[in-house]
Amino acid sequence: MSRATIIGLGKYLPDKVVTNHDLEKKVDTSDEWIKTRTGIEKRRIAAADQAASDLGIKAAEAALEDAEIKAEDLELIIVATATPDMMFPATACIIQNKIGAKNAAAFDLEAGCSGFVYGVSVAANFIESGTYKNILVIGAEVLSKIMDWEDRSTCVLFGDGAGAAVFSATDEGGILATDLGADGSGADALYQTAGGSRKPASEQTVANREHYLKMEGTPVFKFAVKTMGKASLKVLKKAGIKKEDVDLLVPHQANTRIIAAAAKRLKLKDEQVYVNLPEYGNTSAASVPIALTEAKEKGLLKKGDKIVLVAFGAGLTWASAVLEW
Ligand code: ACO
Repeated sequence: MSRATIIGLGKYLPDKVVTNHDLEKKVDTSDEWIKTRTGIEKRRIAAADQAASDLGIKAAEAALEDAEIKAEDLELIIVATATPDMMFPATACIIQNKIGAKNAAAFDLEAGCSGFVYGVSVAANFIESGTYKNILVIGAEVLSKIMDWEDRSTCVLFGDGAGAAVFSATDEGGILATDLGADGSGADALYQTAGGSRKPASEQTVANREHYLKMEGTPVFKFAVKTMGKASLKVLKKAGIKKEDVDLLVPHQANTRIIAAAAKRLKLKDEQVYVNLPEYGNTSAASVPIALTEAKEKGLLKKGDKIVLVAFGAGLTWASAVLEW
């Protein structure tokens, strides 16, 4: 059986940096509150003319260059995003055309912040079944576009960015196991009311601010603390790997307290957990591939290392994967 191995990684962060101090001037918040409650210090915000595909293309091109393969070699493109360019066509199709991946099928995957790790699982299954050999998975988000910049309980948390990974069929290593989950009873904890078929966008929905992201922070926080450690342990069990043998945890970057809880369940030291949340905030489906790309750039991924990816998000959803580098 073929294994799905990451042969290339890439990321893109928009140039504009917005610090906590910048946000103090917009809403009733403080650098101190944001740092102590979340760990976030700054975030990147996309330009007015940048949509999810624009960020995704840059991350995809970097990943293809790192993988040393051409866009025409791709057979499938999966874009994980909760902020697509538009409801349809899929952002994956827009990217497929613009990067010239003319031999690739393309679709979007919506699992909130868990989307990229869901995509890893889909890619691994397509490769293990022998259906495809080269797959590009992108996490691309511009949450700033659906942010209520008057709501201090959400606008301080998120940032924009994109990350991408090229998966290829190899004989050994690669993705050892994945685990996906959902609990739709938590759908009302994190949502965007208007713009879908339940409540099409109208002047009224805009006046009611229903096109913005809404979140009940506390239930999402409790869910995340419970789920991140559990999902990590479950995928390790599936792969037959002991937690003592994990070299690096690359978690979804939402809150340092949530990450610390997951690390504690796995009994990991600080240096075994990749954290870039202070720099970028929560970039949703882009956070895990951005973090993984940076870990590689910093030389933290060594041949044979066992790496756990874990995420949670709107849905509510969760996803984990364990891979051998
Ligand atoms: N600045 C100052 N005060 C604030 C701010 C702010 N930016 N936001 C909220 N507060 C206030 C609240 O109004 C509240 O005041 P009150 O006690 O007078 O009512 C107080 O701070 C405490 O608020 P809590 O919500 O209880 O704070 P908590 O410690 O739970 O932290 C947080 C809030 C950071 C949002 C936390 O709940 C959290 O991280 N939740 C998870 C969020 C998350 O990760 N979401 C992403 C999911 S992934 C996806 O798919 C997009």
